[in-house]
Amino acid sequence: MEFSVVVLPGDGVGPEVVAEGLKVLKAIGETFGHDFQLSHGSIGGIAFDQEGAALPERTLEICRACDAILFGAVGDPKYEDPKAKVRPELGYGLIRLRKELGLFANLRPVRLFSALVNSTNLKPEVVEGVDFVIVRELTGGLYFSEPKGIRQTSEGREAIDTLIYSEKEIKRIVRVGFELARTRQRKLTSVDKFQILRSSDLWREIASELALEYPDVQLEHMHVDACGMRIIQRPVEFDVIVTENLFGDILSDVASMLAGSMGMMPSASLAGIPQKGARLFGLYEPIHGSSPNRAKLDMANPIATILSVAMMLRHSFGLTTEAKIVEDAVDEVLKEGYRTYDIMSEGKMKAGTKFIGDLIAEKTRRLSKLESPAQ
Ligand code: IPM
Ligand code: MN
Repeated sequence: MEFSVVVLPGDGVGPEVVAEGLKVLKAIGETFGHDFQLSHGSIGGIAFDQEGAALPERTLEICRACDAILFGAVGDPKYEDPKAKVRPELGYGLIRLRKELGLFANLRPVRLFSALVNSTNLKPEVVEGVDFVIVRELTGGLYFSEPKGIRQTSEGREAIDTLIYSEKEIKRIVRVGFELARTRQRKLTSVDKFQILRSSDLWREIASELALEYPDVQLEHMHVDACGMRIIQRPVEFDVIVTENLFGDILSDVASMLAGSMGMMPSASLAGIPQKGARLFGLYEPIHGSSPNRAKLDMANPIATILSVAMMLRHSFGLTTEAKIVEDAVDEVLKEGYRTYDIMSEGKMKAGTKFIGDLIAEKTRRLSKLESPAQ
């Protein structure tokens, strides 16, 4: 089968982790006989330096024409100095890309691989067995609603952000939550700030209405502050969490600590509802960001990107066997004791970005050969 993939390495450690993700994609392609057609585009600080825009038009164009996007990270400290003359808003390039491509459904799986049970900041008995997904609304809410800006008033400056959610936007993202819960433990936690935010009142109402269509899924509502606490207190109780854009942004960084490190957190941003057999257009990215002080040191953990590739295989290409093989390959390499610095613990073998990537690609090849019809 043939699939087209646009690769956007971006800034900082982005190019390094993306290179390892591609090794794994290649291993799958070669052993299963899939043809992954790659084209490269620029984004972020590097795009600004070379082409004068954080999100060049050409990048947007090639992204519109492909089946899936593999994204590294954007962000460069040299553009974050508030006194700097040019200050491209690099994060804005990324959120514009999401918006332009209609990628409204952001899936952020939080899974603790059993080999890492002693590598988190929490007690092993609290985190053992953690396996849930945060579904974050990605193209609405405070990030995008208008009016937005800073203005002068007679009493000084004033800033405004607006929070609007339409019924349609809420419905489709909560539906993603229900559909995903159906493929898992059939439990959905809808997170809001009910009775304080009007958008949350509507959110809760719509979630309850939709629940009638999903009698097989258990729905609970939770306030976002309580959810933040619960994620640390009893994380194993979650299966699927669905929430609005900013709440999801915050909760997913909090939850990343359960997986051992941000370096273990993949994500998928989809343009549709994941249902059985659906092949969705999507962008796949590690959530750790550009981590510029670790760039070019062969230090970064490539696993979040490799797991993002697994999500691409599953959600955009419908290759569930292949996706599982990549996840199993990660699991095995961790069980063998190899660790990047961020998940290192006593008695384990410290390894660099490339070495971990090679090990996982090699393991992927080995596991694929056991399964693949092409062999
Ligand atoms: C994320 C990031 C982005 C966001 C930034 C870089 C705009 O934090 O993907 O979680 O806030 O969505
Ligand atoms: Mn974030």
